[in-house]
Parts: sequence; C-alpha cells; structure tokens
Amino acid sequence: MLLLDGKLVSQVRREALKPKVAEFMKRTGRKPHLVVVLVGEDPASQVYVRNKIKSCEAVGILSTHKKLPTTATQAELDQVIEELNQDPTVDGILVQLPLPGHLSEIRVNELISADKDVDGFTFQVLGHLWAGSPIVAPCTPKGIMSILEHYQIPVAGKRAVVIGRSNIVGKPMAHLLTMADATVTLCHSKTKNLRDFTSQADIVVVAAGRRHLLGREDFKAGAVIIDVGIHGTGQDQPLVGDVRFHEIEGWASAATPVPGGVGPMTITTLLENTLYLAERKNGLV
Ligand code: GUN
Repeated sequence: MLLLDGKLVSQVRREALKPKVAEFMKRTGRKPHLVVVLVGEDPASQVYVRNKIKSCEAVGILSTHKKLPTTATQAELDQVIEELNQDPTVDGILVQLPLPGHLSEIRVNELISADKDVDGFTFQVLGHLWAGSPIVAPCTPKGIMSILEHYQIPVAGKRAVVIGRSNIVGKPMAHLLTMADATVTLCHSKTKNLRDFTSQADIVVVAAGRRHLLGREDFKAGAVIIDVGIHGTGQDQPLVGDVRFHEIEGWASAATPVPGGVGPMTITTLLENTLYLAERKNGLV
C-alpha cells in the first residue's frame, strides 16, 4: 500500500513556495501578509492558529494573529474585518472557525473581501468555484487534490465517494473531484447503507468527524482512502482518524495516515492561497 505522506508533499510544496515568496518581495518590497483572527479560547483552534502562524514564518510570509475575547460582539468582529478589508498591507484574512455561538459565520463570509478570502469561504469566491472559474479553493479539499496530484493518482472517470457535507470539506471536496472528472457521490450522516456506496468507490474521502467509523470491510480492495478525521484519544495518546488505519494496510492501494496525511496539507494550501492572492492583488498573476 502506498502511504500518502502529506508531510512530505507539504515539505515539497513549501520548498517550492519559498522562491516565489522571495520573488514577490523583490517585486513589491514587502512580504505577503496573512491576518488570522481568532475569537475566544477554543484550545484546538489555538493550536491550529499557532501552527498557521509558524508555517507562514517558515516560508517567508508575514502573519499577524489578531485575538478577540470570547465576549466580542458581532459589531466588533465586523469592524475588525472591515478594517482588514481596507488595509492595503493585508493580502489575506482568515477568521478561525468555529466561532463562539453568538457570532455568525454567514455574516463573516458576507463581509470578508473576496480579494482577501484565503479560505475560499465567502459567497463570491464559492460562486467562482461553483461556476468553474476558481479564484482560490478551500484549503483542506484543495490540499487533498494536491496529494492526489503529487502521487499521480488518476481521478478522471473514477468513482469517488465523499463522506461529510460540511462547507469546509465535504461540499467543496465533491466539487473539486467533479471538476477533475470523477463521478462523485456525496454521503453524510443520514445516508442509509453507507457501505453500499463506499464499497463501490475507487476513491473515498472520509470527513465524517467520527472516530474509527470505517474499516476494511467498508472498502473495495485497492481503493484510495483519504482520511480527514482527527481525534485525540487522551493525553499522550496518538491521534486517530475516521478510518481504522491498521485494518486497511495491505487492503487499500493508497491511504493517508493520521496524523501526517491531510492535516499538514491544509496549512500548505493556506500558504499557497495567501501568496496567490497577494500576487493577484499586485497584478503579478
Ligand atoms: N477551522 C477548521 N478548519 C478551518 C479552515 O480551514 N479555515 C478556518 N477559517 N477555520 C477552520
């Protein structure tokens, strides 16, 4: 079984980014600049945001971490976004999700300028993607496409099943696979007889958010399995995914491990999207 090593693909792509970032600096006299907004103290989000900031630095992208208290009002968050939209030194804006319950994700996606939307979540950028003329695509599904591309895994004409219909992963994933000429079925928590679908699929992307949901008997021999799940199992215990990885070794033809599969690719794609939007804003692409 081919191990789809997201850490390795990330390294390769981040190395390829460095000279492009340097070229951007040479042309514009400044670094590409990403602002990450975190509202509240969610521990997982704090880790993700820290990793995003660190990864920016490593490729030469300037990053700013803008922290707002859990008690921030929608009006306060709106104002922060409006200011970042107007700030000519900012190329990318990311508001870390999930937001505290009293704040509206929809409102955020209405407000962020499409030109600075590194997540690809605003309605304008999603509309471009949907219509087949993408500006950027959401980071996790785009990162998965980059893994498939790196390992030259054929997608055109294949049967692909995506499990999970979130705006962040499942829905855009189904769309990107469709654009790559796969025949795609989007399954979710209300799908009846899930195995009927997964067992027919050449490529399965599992973003169900349920620890160890699927195992060997759910997949066709030789399937390509992409596991987006990430679950802690307690202090000092290893992270696990939505797939029982030990069961599919030797059964799948290729699979992503957890950790070290999809995770690193999300941030790598964020870096790529940030540089792209910075270049676009400066008329360099
Ligand atoms: N929370 C989990 N994944 C993501 C992501 O890709 N972008 C944002 N903004 N928040 C997230």
